[in-house]
Parts: sequence; structure tokens; C-alpha cells
Amino acid sequence: MKMVFLGPPGAGKGTVAAAAKDYYGIPHISTGDLFRSNIKNETELGLKVKSILASGGLVPDSITIEMVRNRLAEPDCEKGFILDGFPRTIPQADALAEMVDLDAVVDFQISAEEVVERLSGRRMCPSTGRIYHIVFNPPKVDGKDDETGEDLIQREDDKEEAIKHRLDVYTQQTEPLINYYKAKGLIREVKTNNDLTPAQVFELTRKALS
Ligand code: AP5
Repeated sequence: MKMVFLGPPGAGKGTVAAAAKDYYGIPHISTGDLFRSNIKNETELGLKVKSILASGGLVPDSITIEMVRNRLAEPDCEKGFILDGFPRTIPQADALAEMVDLDAVVDFQISAEEVVERLSGRRMCPSTGRIYHIVFNPPKVDGKDDETGEDLIQREDDKEEAIKHRLDVYTQQTEPLINYYKAKGLIREVKTNNDLTPAQVFELTRKALS
């Protein structure tokens, strides 16, 4: 299964992908995680994109497309993959269409108010990228990762100003992809909100894909 997870920041793409990768036995490729790992390791790419991520803007298409092209060429992607956070622009979608034939694009829908509630309470394990929420999906021990015990962190771009900017960028540059993929018959809608648990959203996703 070759699929894309589409949706505004905080829609729960990464949370559902964490369950879906085990269920479908395919890798979860998050462009945001790839950029954050480069920033953490202070690579040339990481230094180039650090301030862009902190502000909530988009990394230039040329850099992002090249990174995804290299990742999809790895052998673990042969049977399928979940692309989370890519494509985000029409040129990225056109480039992806030249690389692979997709089976489905899941469009996660959520209100802007709930996005703000989710992102302001999100915490993350810095080494594994495991995602929590202080209210909706708390760790077993306050502030610590369930498996490694490391201190959880708040993402730079989960501050109020950056969240607003990310939502604007999503509306202007990424939302047009819904119609782009509708025209190709690939869209599967999943309506989500903060009353549904991550397990319930995964179940809705599984049904939408079956
Ligand atoms: P990226 O990391 O992709 O960020 P995003 O798309 O903004 O998505 P998020 O990771 O914020 O949200 P999510 O939908 O995965 O939600 P999550 O599961 O964490 O990108 C970061 C940056 O990298 C971009 O701004 C850009 O600069 C750059 N970038 C990345 N890709 C790029 C591209 N293609 N082109 C150019 N630049 C690119 O959940 C959110 C919170 O909600 C968590 O706390 C979670 O615990 C909680 N939650 C999840 N599910 C539920 C539920 N059912 N109920 C209640 N709470 C829930």
C-alpha cells in the first residue's frame, strides 16, 4: 500500500501513522521528522532548514523533493509506505507522481480550534519522535517517554505564532491538493476531533482504506 497522509498541522497524521505502519508492515516517512533529525544532527541540510521549521514556513520544494526521492529509493519502500507531510505543494505532488503510483491519499479533517488545542499540548520524545499530548494522550510518567524515560520536549513550531503561520500555509499551499487528488479518485476522508481517541481514529482510517 502506497499512501499519503494529508491534513492540517495537528490533525493526527503522525499519531495514526505510528499505528498504521505496524498494521500494514510498511515504513512511516515523515518529512518533518526527517528535517528535525537533520537539525538535531547539525547536518548541512539541518542548518539550512532550521529557521524555516521554527517559523512554520515551508522548506523549498527542490530540497524537499530530493530528500523524499532518496528516501523512497531505499529497499524498505518497495512494498509500500506512508508519506506523512509530503506532498505539501502542487509541484511536490507532480514530482511524486513521477516517482510512484499511489494507492490512496487520506485526508484528515479537523477544526482550527482543535488544532490549536492539540498542538499547544503536544510533547515529543527527542530521540524516537514518539508523540504525546498532556491531556489527550499523556505519558505514563509526567514529562517522560514511556519507553526510553527521556525528558519530553515541546517543538519550536508548536508556539502560538508559528501555529497560526502553519495553519495559513496549509490553507494556501496544501489544501489545494485535496482537489488535485479528488480528481485522481484517490481521496479517503477521515473526520476527526478531540472526542475520538487515537485508537478510534486509526480504526476510522483502516475502514476508509479498506
Ligand atoms: P511536520 O512535522 O510534518 O508538521 P505538520 O504537518 O505541521 O504536522 P504535525 O506533526 O504538527 O501534526 P500531525 O498531524 O502529525 O499531528 P500529531 O499526530 O503530532 O512538518 C514540520 C515542518 O517541516 C513544516 O512546518 C515545514 O517547515 C517542514 N516540512 C515538512 N514537510 C514539508 C514539505 N513536504 N515541504 C516543505 N516543508 C516541509 O498530533 C498532534 C497532537 O494531537 C499530539 O499531541 C497528539 O498526541 C494529539 N492527538 C493525536 N490524535 C489525537 C486524538 N484522536 N485526540 C486527541 N488528541 C490527539
